[in-house]
Amino acid sequence: MEYKNIVLQMEDKVAVLTISRPKALNALNSETLKELDLAIDEIANDDKIYAVIITGAGKAFVAGADITEMKDLDVMGGRRFGNLGNKVFRKLETLEKPVIAAVNGFALGGGCELSMACDIRIASVKAKFGQPEVGLGITPGFGGTQRLSRLVGLGMAKELIYTAKIINAEEALRIGLVNKVVALEDLLVEAKALANTIAGQAPIAVSLCKAAINKGMQLDIDSALSYESEIFGECFSTEDQSSGMTAFIEKTEKCFKNK
Ligand code: CAA
Repeated sequence: MEYKNIVLQMEDKVAVLTISRPKALNALNSETLKELDLAIDEIANDDKIYAVIITGAGKAFVAGADITEMKDLDVMGGRRFGNLGNKVFRKLETLEKPVIAAVNGFALGGGCELSMACDIRIASVKAKFGQPEVGLGITPGFGGTQRLSRLVGLGMAKELIYTAKIINAEEALRIGLVNKVVALEDLLVEAKALANTIAGQAPIAVSLCKAAINKGMQLDIDSALSYESEIFGECFSTEDQSSGMTAFIEKTEKCFKNK
């Protein structure tokens, strides 16, 4: 499928989705959010894809939601725009495939929020993170007030959101917002290496782990462990469990089929 503000490349088992709207530093307008929605469906429906990388073209990952589009919204328009972003980011967060954000540059507002809807964040040394919304008279609207505190804790999330402070990649690493910081020229290489390592594991098991970790975070420990036992059991209905364990015992090469 052809997109205007997104480039989607399927590279063997890995989908690389690049937000590319250079005139606005990849800011998310409704059009781009709707394209992102369609691209997530395209990835979800492709059985050959086991992992996803999201990155940005040029000097920004995503410089936020589109301020030009938001400027004259009324209350209903604001809610609709917030709902659209939240719906698309939630779809990404619950996609049954792991998603790595390769944060090349500015990840501000909606850009930081997009990275947080991914499973893992790798940043280049050029990356900058922040939720600058209060400096524009609004609150974070695509999940920032919820996902940032879950990732870095309440105190740090409140400081970042209340002050609109922009932090660099090293600080993002220190507070646990990103997993790793690498040179800009190594960013996609590192992200692809990580994606391929994940794609080399049993895809259904990885997908079930994502569901269990994400769902478990919302549950009490007993319900969460009960859910874990449920999906653990489900693994034993897959060919990949049988072939993976057989390969271990017979000391042969493992070969997963996503079945
Ligand atoms: N929306 C719309 N346009 C944007 C944009 C945004 N979020 N961010 C940048 N642009 C546009 C600029 O207006 C500029 O356009 P023109 O060339 O037509 O003037 C172009 O992209 C290049 O930007 P700058 O000239 O500002 O580039 P810079 O290198 O000097 O600064 C920057 C880079 C620090 C990222 C700066 O662009 C900036 O502060 N952007 C806004 C960041 C922001 O506040 N993001 C949060 C948005 S609110 C939000 O996201 C709400 C939510 O949670 C849903």
